[in-house]
Amino acid sequence: MRLDKYLSEMGAGTRSEVKKAIRAGRVTVDGEKVKDGSVHVEKEAEVCLDGKRIAYENFVYYLMNKPAGVISATDDARERTVLDLIDGQQRKGLFPVGRLDKDTEGLLLITNDGELAHRLLSPKKHVDKVYYARLDGPVGETERKLFAEGLRVDESLTAMPAVLEILEPANEVKITIREGKYHQIKRMFAAVGREVVYLQRLSMGPLSIDAGLPIGAYRRLTEEELSAIIKV
Ligand code: URA
Repeated sequence: MRLDKYLSEMGAGTRSEVKKAIRAGRVTVDGEKVKDGSVHVEKEAEVCLDGKRIAYENFVYYLMNKPAGVISATDDARERTVLDLIDGQQRKGLFPVGRLDKDTEGLLLITNDGELAHRLLSPKKHVDKVYYARLDGPVGETERKLFAEGLRVDESLTAMPAVLEILEPANEVKITIREGKYHQIKRMFAAVGREVVYLQRLSMGPLSIDAGLPIGAYRRLTEEELSAIIKV
C-alpha cells in the first residue's frame, strides 16, 4: 500500500499530516529516507517516523469514553456517530462493539476485529458489563433481590441475574449485567418503577474506563488490555 496510507491507518496522523511528515524527511522505510508518500510499502516493511518504528497491525482497538449525544453506529445521515469522533477516519472497517444509547456515556470498544467483537457480544461468553446509574429515586433490598433472581422485565425480556450495588445516596447504583439487550438497564429499572436519569458504562470484561480518559476521548488499548481481551 501507499506509504501515506500505511502511516495514517496506523494512527500516525491524518493523510495530509503524514504527507507533510514524509516530505519533511521524517520517515524511513527499511532504513532509507523516503520523501514520496505514494511509494509502495509492504506491511512487513520497517517504517519509522522520527526514528520510531510504526509496525503495521491488521487490527486496531480503541477504547473510547463515549459522550452523550452521539450514536453507536458507523455512519448516519442525521446524527453524529462515535466514529465521527475518531480523528481523520484513520482506518476503514471500524465499528463499535455493541451499542450504548445516545444519552449513555462511558466505555466503548471500537475495532475492525469482527471475530473478537462477536465473541465479546456472544451471550454464551457472559462478559460482565458494569454500569453506574443515577435514578429518579432510591432503590433498596427489594430491587437488589429482584435483580439477583433474574427479573421478568416484559413479554420480550427476562433479564439474567444482575448484581445491584446500592451506593450512597440510594438513588445511585452500580449494576453488573451479562447481556446487552436493547435499553436493558433502563427497562430493568422501569420494571421496578424507577427511571434512569444518567447512565455510564464503567467496564466491559477486563476493560475499564480510566480517569485519564476524558469524556469524548479515545486511545489505543494497552498491551495488557489487549492480551486480556483476546482471551475472552
Ligand atoms: N442499558 C441501557 O438501557 N442503555 C445503554 O446504553 C446500555 C445498557
